[in-house]
Amino acid sequence: MEEACRVLEVVAAQCSFTVSSEEFLVGGAALDATSNSTPLPEETLKGCEASDAILFGSVGGPKWEGLPPDIQPERGALLPLRKHFGLFANLRPGVCHPSLIDASPVKNELIPNGFNVLCVRELTGGIYFGSPKERREENGEEIAIDTMVYRRSEIERITHVAFQAARGRRKKICSVDKANVLQNSRLWRETVEDVAREYPDVELSHLYVDNAAMQLIRYAPDYDVIVTGNLFGDILSDEMAMISGSLGMLPSASLGASGESGCNFGLYEPSGGSAPDIAGQGIANPIAQILSLAMLLRHSLAETAAADRIDAAVEKAIEDGFRTGDIFSGLQGERRVDTAEMGAAIRDRL
Ligand code: IPM
Ligand code: MG
Repeated sequence: MEEACRVLEVVAAQCSFTVSSEEFLVGGAALDATSNSTPLPEETLKGCEASDAILFGSVGGPKWEGLPPDIQPERGALLPLRKHFGLFANLRPGVCHPSLIDASPVKNELIPNGFNVLCVRELTGGIYFGSPKERREENGEEIAIDTMVYRRSEIERITHVAFQAARGRRKKICSVDKANVLQNSRLWRETVEDVAREYPDVELSHLYVDNAAMQLIRYAPDYDVIVTGNLFGDILSDEMAMISGSLGMLPSASLGASGESGCNFGLYEPSGGSAPDIAGQGIANPIAQILSLAMLLRHSLAETAAADRIDAAVEKAIEDGFRTGDIFSGLQGERRVDTAEMGAAIRDRL
């Protein structure tokens, strides 16, 4: 986050705009500061409400896993924030740069030129939020229930987001569901097909989620936009991140309905988690956070030029061989750097 904030200062000066930003605690940091009473303090929520966009760090870690579920960082902060602001559209670009194919666990010959897939994940519905959601006793035994619900209107709006994104890309959409088993996947598929009639210029295909998990490893370059529900999108986007080389590279945007200006309030965060195994060592890859800032500038602040500059600077730093540990393959021309050095390399290239 520190590196991303420094990048923001540089691009704001270069592109002559000012951003007023404030920092608030969330997740484990907030729990620590409030003696474990809440991972989402009132002050934080108010600060977000008063802003045009949220640049979010990563939450969660073993230290807070033993707390009651409702105050754990993920369930008590991130999910309520998404719901509170109606951030139903989660854009997760899975990009494997051609110069990073060696960092991908997928064989080079399957991704000779890398790949670029956009996962459009529904974020405020499905099994994450359906009710009942509970644990209780039945016939003397413990049972746990989560409910997967999708309304036609929820499917329609996320499908429109995906089709519109596809229009600005290679005009191909693959919708992922489990229509061979789940009722709500059948509604999903029918609704996607209905919406698709409004976009005759975009090619639509469907995959069952198990097959999609396999196809992505085998043929990632074939895919352009993937649209899917909350749970399947959660799983597939981690897979996409991994095959692109590292979870530390991929940003994400969580958007609500767009306003009149075409600009959205949004929450921007790395697709990966908080990497507790390397926390505090100063070696995490800051690129996902920096690219999340670029998405924020593009989607919430309409500062397209600044966003383009950041994307280009990141790409250049990679081309020039800068590698944090997660993307270091030991090839000639690579230079292993820590978080601050990667941040500096990117700012130098802005
Ligand atoms: C993600 C994360 C979250 C999710 C967790 C932390 C609740 O895995 O953003 O993908 O499941 O949505
Ligand atoms: Mg996830």
